[in-house]
Amino acid sequence: MVNKIALITGANKGIGFETAKQLAAEGMTVLIGARDAERGEQAARELRESGAGAHFVQLDVTDDASVARAAKQIEKDYGHLDVLVNNAGTASVARKRTQPSETALEDMKAVYEINVFGVVRVTNAMLPLLQMAPAARIVNVSSEAGSITSQTGTTSPMGGNPASAQYPSSKAAVNMLTAQYAKQLRDVPIKVNAANPGFTQTDFTGGRGVRTAAQGAEPSVYLATLPDDGPSGVLYGHIWTTEGDGDGGYGVLSW
Ligand SMILES: NC(=O)c1ccc[n+]([C@@H]2O[C@H](COP(=O)([O-])OP(=O)(O)OC[C@H]3O[C@@H](n4cnc5c(N)ncnc54)[C@H](OP(=O)(O)O)[C@@H]3O)[C@@H](O)[C@H]2O)c1
Repeated sequence: MVNKIALITGANKGIGFETAKQLAAEGMTVLIGARDAERGEQAARELRESGAGAHFVQLDVTDDASVARAAKQIEKDYGHLDVLVNNAGTASVARKRTQPSETALEDMKAVYEINVFGVVRVTNAMLPLLQMAPAARIVNVSSEAGSITSQTGTTSPMGGNPASAQYPSSKAAVNMLTAQYAKQLRDVPIKVNAANPGFTQTDFTGGRGVRTAAQGAEPSVYLATLPDDGPSGVLYGHIWTTEGDGDGGYGVLSW
């Protein structure tokens, strides 16, 4: 049997690295998308040393040329792509916690360049390769922070978090992109879904969180390995609830 090929962006650390590790454990050949060669090679080497089929692919999601080169390389080496996990993301390039009214447009644009335009750039470049696979899966790593229901309602503690413009709105855009790509691809066997890792201990959160990076990767892995009768166009992952200890397990979240 030929191994499935999976590309994970931002896979040199955190949730992306753990996603690559878990997809490799499922028997997939994993392509470690990373913008920095040293960090990407190191991550791929670490996975290979534990027996995985893992290879570094230079990929900066904000750079057209880098993304085009990555697509060309994958086409040359494998001829197709079974799984794309759009995982690379950032909270704030300037790392400033600001109210919407004080948000610097420069920072907002920089966040969108990675979290939103990066998803479109990479997906559009990889789509011809995904269409060459028998039943490809696209996973957009989103967040409950991008759920308007969670941000404005009372069923999730997210509603009590401070107001912020850039990151939540970027992930709301990722959610809508997920719905729109799923709509475009609804008559072909490609599924497009968004993953919510939950509040996870990575560099992104300064090590804070209630979930390990391995747990944060689980929704992405679930969506990347969906059977043919699985859903397309949903936000799936960890549910944070105002009930009990706050852990609502896994399920589909409201947009
Ligand atoms: N941690 C959480 O609580 C949490 C919750 C919900 C959603 N998420 C989402 O989960 C995803 C992964 O986050 P994480 O927590 O694992 O964060 P992380 O440890 O900071 O990892 C982020 C990854 O994205 C990469 N990246 C950033 N900009 C990039 C670019 N322009 N091109 C390519 N790669 C780029 C980083 O590469 P470098 O090492 O080169 O910087 C790194 O590999 C993000 O989309 C995030 O929004 C996280």
